[in-house]
Amino acid sequence: MTPFESQSRCIGVLTSGGDCPGLNSALRGITKAAIQDYNMKVVGILDGFRGLVENRTVPLDFDSTSGVLTRGGTLLGTSRDKPRKMQMGGKVMDMTQAAVDNARKHDFDCVVCLGGGGTQKNAWHLHRTGGLDVMTLPKTIDNDVAGTDVTFGFDTAVQICTEAIDRLHTTATSHDRIIVVEVMGHNTGWLALAAGIAGGADVILIPEIPYEVEAVVDYLKERQRRYGKRFSIVCVAEGAMSAEEAAARAESAARKKADRKDENGAAAAPDGAPHGYRLVKESLASRVARDLQQLTRTEARVTSLGHVQRGGVPSAADRLLTTRLGTTAVELLAAGTYNVMVAVRDGQCVPVPLGDVAGKKKLVPIDHDWIDSARRVGTCLGVTDDQLLELMHP
Ligand code: F6P
Repeated sequence: MTPFESQSRCIGVLTSGGDCPGLNSALRGITKAAIQDYNMKVVGILDGFRGLVENRTVPLDFDSTSGVLTRGGTLLGTSRDKPRKMQMGGKVMDMTQAAVDNARKHDFDCVVCLGGGGTQKNAWHLHRTGGLDVMTLPKTIDNDVAGTDVTFGFDTAVQICTEAIDRLHTTATSHDRIIVVEVMGHNTGWLALAAGIAGGADVILIPEIPYEVEAVVDYLKERQRRYGKRFSIVCVAEGAMSAEEAAARAESAARKKADRKDENGAAAAPDGAPHGYRLVKESLASRVARDLQQLTRTEARVTSLGHVQRGGVPSAADRLLTTRLGTTAVELLAAGTYNVMVAVRDGQCVPVPLGDVAGKKKLVPIDHDWIDSARRVGTCLGVTDDQLLELMHP
């Protein structure tokens, strides 16, 4: 399409869910390509889907997206609000129609939504229920969006966590301590696994492999006995769980949902809390450290990397990826392709139907080669080697 043909086209862009490095460079890629190659008008929607419902927008152009390639966070702001269940003046309301009406008022050809699993679902909902044309880009440090080989933000987070593990190594060695380092990943272990391997963690615990504390203790004792290593680094994903917890969780999942309790048994979010509100709970890392200290009689410490993992400048790989995803998105829009997620498949940026992605999560497959490589260099994955092999090749 020539610039003349697309002159009247206008796209809305929003960022939703937890922020991550690379969002601004994606916004830059979209905006610059849309204006330069297709002369489109680009409107930024503030604070995720809430901004669409409340009609809060800013124009995006060369000026406003200049100098943001290296900047972390999102210049549009973000939220975890869902159009179909939004806190509005103390009440939870379905605001789907308001979102659609505002998109129509702006005459958006399409709303481009940058986000993780929740965003894919919300965007798909706006299309299915409200008839809005949408497009999504896969973002999250968790790398758990279905349908894409990788999400942007992941590479940067892996780098941050790996550097942290490197630093923890020197102090753990000096003091002969176990250091349990907790990284993000409440449903999946991609980040813990990648950073744990890259940082040479001795133990890696991920949600996909419920761990047995005895197996970890035996491993650590053997490490001391056979190799004389009294320090160890244990890298845990925040959502990892013991085998007993996994069994209990599976059993009571339905009941917990019914009586609105969180997994710690505490009361659910108070009325009026924003969507995504989570209660502060005892971290898994603290529990693991306490158990390991008691059972190995080795002093233990905990480091929770928290939101440090999501802050700061994107890596070169994420800058490259987001620029490619953003510019590919515009090319697809110009060609009239809607209601897809721009995914990464075998190194290429390609459209995948949003309906195939929404509501799905990409877990680490137990037979994934990262798990196999970790095992082959002697890393403990929370179970014995025999148990792991049995899980990998049942
Ligand atoms: O969804 C991405 C993520 O970074 C998770 O890994 C983490 O559990 C969660 O966000 C934390 O969210 P919040 O910033 O809302 O506490």
